[in-house]
Amino acid sequence: MQDEEKKLISDISSQVGYVTIPEEFLAQAQKIQGLLLYYSYAIKEVRTKLEILNEELAFRTNRNPIESIESRVKKPASIIDKLRRKNFPVTVESVFENLHDVAGVRVICSFIDDIYDVAEMFLSQDDIKLIEQKDYIEHPKKNGYRSLHLIIEVPVFLSEQTLNMKVEVQIRTMAMDFWAALEHQANYKKEIEGIDELVVELAECAEIINQTDLRMQDIYHKIQKIKKVQEALHENST
Ligand code: GTP
Ligand code: MG
Repeated sequence: MQDEEKKLISDISSQVGYVTIPEEFLAQAQKIQGLLLYYSYAIKEVRTKLEILNEELAFRTNRNPIESIESRVKKPASIIDKLRRKNFPVTVESVFENLHDVAGVRVICSFIDDIYDVAEMFLSQDDIKLIEQKDYIEHPKKNGYRSLHLIIEVPVFLSEQTLNMKVEVQIRTMAMDFWAALEHQANYKKEIEGIDELVVELAECAEIINQTDLRMQDIYHKIQKIKKVQEALHENST
């Protein structure tokens, strides 16, 4: 062992003391690690499906409806926090049964229409089962939050079994994502004085952003129309 490593170990043990890890803890830690791994496999399945859709559409139509995809597995501390908050048992089985957002995938699209197109293509795949859909675009939250949320189940094929894993898929435009990210950072839900006015302002910003989303989509449609007319004229003249 290098001197540096010896020093590191001695530093750590001087901070926490010599702790013996019980066998039972190791067995439980392994079970939790396994569960989180299964969720990460479900994320891989969903990401691959979305990436294939995006690539194939780019090949066929010369345009990418998906700008980017983000994903995460919920951290163990947040999982336990949520189980407690919702009065569910804090067990591995309970995570599987009661939580639907341990695996989360966020799809950022260019235009509002793309959100519904991507959702429809994704949900029409045979092995994707829709559990719940929340359309916060058609019905935005009071604070102005917009996104399409799908809770789906996807099969994950393991060496000895197949597990149907739940994944929360949030689909939104870049503009909706911009608002949600900044609103999340503001973290105003904790008591802050004089917050009411700012909440109204945030909702106003969401509305302006929505108007811009709609206008950009409109501009895009108009450009497409002009291109089609020009192509037709060009074909007729040759
Ligand atoms: P949770 O118990 O928080 O999961 O709520 P829920 O089961 O009612 O689901 P909901 O669809 O309301 O929200 C799920 C996720 O959507 C959250 O974890 C956020 O990622 C996102 N979300 C929902 N509402 C807001 C919001 O007002 N602002 C932002 N920035 N994100 C939101
Ligand atoms: Mg959540």
